[in-house]
Amino acid sequence: MKEIEPKVLSKDEIERISSGVNEEDILEFDKHSLNVFVEPLTVIEAKEPGSAYVKVRDKDGNIKEILDTTSMNWALTLGFAHPDVNYAAYQQMSRLTHVRYNVLTPARAKLANKIADLVPGKLKGGRVAFNNEGGGIANEGAMKLAMIASKADHFGVFWGGYHGSSLATGTASQPIHGVTRFNNFGYDHYTRMPYPYCYRCMWNYTEGINGKKDPGCNLECFKVVENYLRGMAPKKMAGVMLEPIQGAGGHIPAPPEYLRKLKEVCEQEKIFLIYDECQTCMWRTGKYFTVTELYEKELNIDVSPDMMTFTKGIGGGFPLGVLVATPKIKKRFTPTEEHTTFSSSPIAMATSLTAISVIEKQKLGENCEKMGQKITKRLLEMKEKYEVIGDVRCPGLFIGVELVMDKNSKEPFTALTEEMILLAPEHGLYLGESMPIVSGTGQIRRRNVVKVKPPIIITEEDADFILEKFELILKEALKKVS
Ligand SMILES: Cc1ncc(COP(=O)(O)O)c(C=O)c1O
Repeated sequence: MKEIEPKVLSKDEIERISSGVNEEDILEFDKHSLNVFVEPLTVIEAKEPGSAYVKVRDKDGNIKEILDTTSMNWALTLGFAHPDVNYAAYQQMSRLTHVRYNVLTPARAKLANKIADLVPGKLKGGRVAFNNEGGGIANEGAMKLAMIASKADHFGVFWGGYHGSSLATGTASQPIHGVTRFNNFGYDHYTRMPYPYCYRCMWNYTEGINGKKDPGCNLECFKVVENYLRGMAPKKMAGVMLEPIQGAGGHIPAPPEYLRKLKEVCEQEKIFLIYDECQTCMWRTGKYFTVTELYEKELNIDVSPDMMTFTKGIGGGFPLGVLVATPKIKKRFTPTEEHTTFSSSPIAMATSLTAISVIEKQKLGENCEKMGQKITKRLLEMKEKYEVIGDVRCPGLFIGVELVMDKNSKEPFTALTEEMILLAPEHGLYLGESMPIVSGTGQIRRRNVVKVKPPIIITEEDADFILEKFELILKEALKKVS
């Protein structure tokens, strides 16, 4: 590979272009940014290549290190600036940076083949489409393919689901009333159905805890959904789209048995089943590539859908969205139906392949499982100690801690959650929170799940640091809000 040598600017000039921000630059930026920024810290650089820590700059110019359990929107599976991923980007960039959507590159061919091989159940050997915007566009791709193959244009979606922020996927997602100041497009294309939320079961089963359903439950909630699928929706459905474990909505797993029934009814009613595994792919939930594969291998049930979408970690930290469809769907996209200018980035495809190889070679899925178990075990112990920890849900490093006023009432403790998120950086941690569920009058009904989803490369020492700080932040936040 040739070294990249700039021809017009000096290396120093180029380096200064994107580094070394000062107070004035930040104040000036504030005037020009159309986006409101709520985070007071400026993220500067990886503590070291491939680290879970990042260096940040506060308003006074002080630099400190933070362990990021949000993996920057759950995308940095391998941590900040991973050296192998960056080398892959550099290597690819020295050959090609951009091509038109319908032009084949070696990286695209290899990645499509690899993904077709990685996916579980009836998706195996399937067909793959890419984009460089992420999960929203991948989900729209799934919806387009379902529409082409079924000639219907109505979709079943779920309470608390999140599928993107485009004008179509925003509609598919749980509306955030009062906060979003515009209406998304096409509400008549969706029927929103209740999602199984075992901790807050509407049929009053009380033992739905730690991500498991009450042993006595008869999945009454599924019967409601079944009615919609069997004709109670306003139109024939092209597809049903859901996250098998809801992420933004609050780390809520649909019981595997529920997914099995859903698959069965969708097959009978000729409705395409679409899993949005944007968050749960890329070994985030442990030693399997997806949560569907986890159920297949550990529970011996095949709940694999007709289509599945990925983003977040799939690009190794570079922007990539993926749609994979079962080979049983014979239809493909024409060039007009699926494309955007930048959606065939050879860089993101090369970094994706490299990240997958690193994870496989270092068995990072196993590490994710081990670290996840360690963190979850300790959080469950904390649950016994603190009245405000209502539920702890995993698997792997896909962890959500639901905070409540008390275990009996289960009243969501949103103020405590928000306080913890604010305090965390002071203690060297970034923590994430669930999306708000807001009533039509603008009341926040709940935003009470703290998320712990660090890069899957974390060590025992990192896990101890997260746990020690989590408890400290919880105690301090409790003092502030009580
Ligand atoms: C489950 C799920 N689907 C889709 C998306 C949308 O992905 P993107 O923001 O890349 O469009 C997200 C993003 O958070 C997500 O969590």
